[in-house]
Amino acid sequence: MTILVTGGAGFIGSNFIFYMLNAHPEDRIVCVDKLTYAGNLSTLSSVMKNERFRFEQADICDRARIFRLFEEEKPEVVVHFAAESHVDRSIEEPGAFLQTNIVGTGVLLDACVRYGITRFHQVSTDEVYGDLPPERPDLFFTEETPLKPSSPYSASKAGADLLVMAYHRTFKLPVTISRCSNNYGPFQYPEKLIPLMIINGLHDRPLPVYGTGENIRDWLYVKDHCKAIDRIIRHGRDGEIYNIGGHNEKRNIDIVEMIVSELGKPKSLITHVEDRKGHDLRYAIDPAKAKRELGWEPETSFEAGIQKTIRWYLDNRAWWEPLYAGSKQDVK
Ligand code: NAD
Ligand code: DAU
Repeated sequence: MTILVTGGAGFIGSNFIFYMLNAHPEDRIVCVDKLTYAGNLSTLSSVMKNERFRFEQADICDRARIFRLFEEEKPEVVVHFAAESHVDRSIEEPGAFLQTNIVGTGVLLDACVRYGITRFHQVSTDEVYGDLPPERPDLFFTEETPLKPSSPYSASKAGADLLVMAYHRTFKLPVTISRCSNNYGPFQYPEKLIPLMIINGLHDRPLPVYGTGENIRDWLYVKDHCKAIDRIIRHGRDGEIYNIGGHNEKRNIDIVEMIVSELGKPKSLITHVEDRKGHDLRYAIDPAKAKRELGWEPETSFEAGIQKTIRWYLDNRAWWEPLYAGSKQDVK
């Protein structure tokens, strides 16, 4: 089948393309990406010549371009990653988040209704649920947890999720949604916590920890997320939401200390800075439904995943050096 992947030049989308081309030799992938600051064609260089792969640079908000692409390719499945994804940027400038994450999703849904698909999969986030109290480790996000987003980013993702479910109800569009916890791994843009700390550490620059550093995130190796999405598009039930996460909660400060120690750098690089506005305290996914219905479970332990990730950044300076140099003002 032909799978249209949006945002495939970004972190998770590119890892998904690599995984799918390898795991499903019968499938063809068409990637549409605007190539914003977060999208990088060099990330896809290993697959650009693959005859089962096509790259199209386009904005998902460009209705005419997107409709033309659907007409040309007639994709059976759409896996929608394209988004503005960084919470700090959404606090600085929310506009692009509303445009891409909500309006862009609407354009794709309209194209799906017009041309027909067998599945539209919305790649969403656990952040749509807001946060959990750190002093209640017995509480987890389930698929029934009410939406209570805290940032313009998560509100825009929640808006997109609601639009997806509305198209399911109104137009009977076959859809699924996955809500995943924090990903880490190769090709993550060096503004997100883990790559930023690795790269700043390598440069002996300060490692900016927001506030106390006691905020908790639930970390998942990116390939495990890709495998979950693959299962959902093949075996997930129409109209269903699946939470994806690996019961791997860690405080930010513990992650940063682990990276410092793996790099053999002094702890004195760790610098507490002003907290993020509205900073979510704790995310924690209950992935029981994905396990029960799809047989999905994470395969990579955090210890193995973080070592692989640090190794990857050490071995792939040519990938991140231009991004890091070009975004010094953005990455603190
Ligand atoms: P990313 O920022 O690394 O990549 C986003 C990609 O989308 C980039 O290639 C960018 O060029 C492209 N894009 C942005 N606006 C576009 C537009 N208007 N038209 C076409 N392409 C556009 O993001 P990521 O971390 O890979 O996240 C991918 C998806 O997964 C997002 O929808 C995000 O909400 C979701 N998600 C991310 C995480 C995480 O930890 N990173 C966790 C759960 C869910
Ligand atoms: O939970 C899923 C979400 O995870 C995704 O939906 C988002 O797209 C993705 O960006 C990520 O959001 P976070 O805000 O959790 O990720 P980030 O890497 O920006 O920050 C992780 C934690 O580390 C958060 O508590 C803020 C903190 N932090 C982050 C940066 C960049 C710092 O303390 N210092 C930093 O410099």
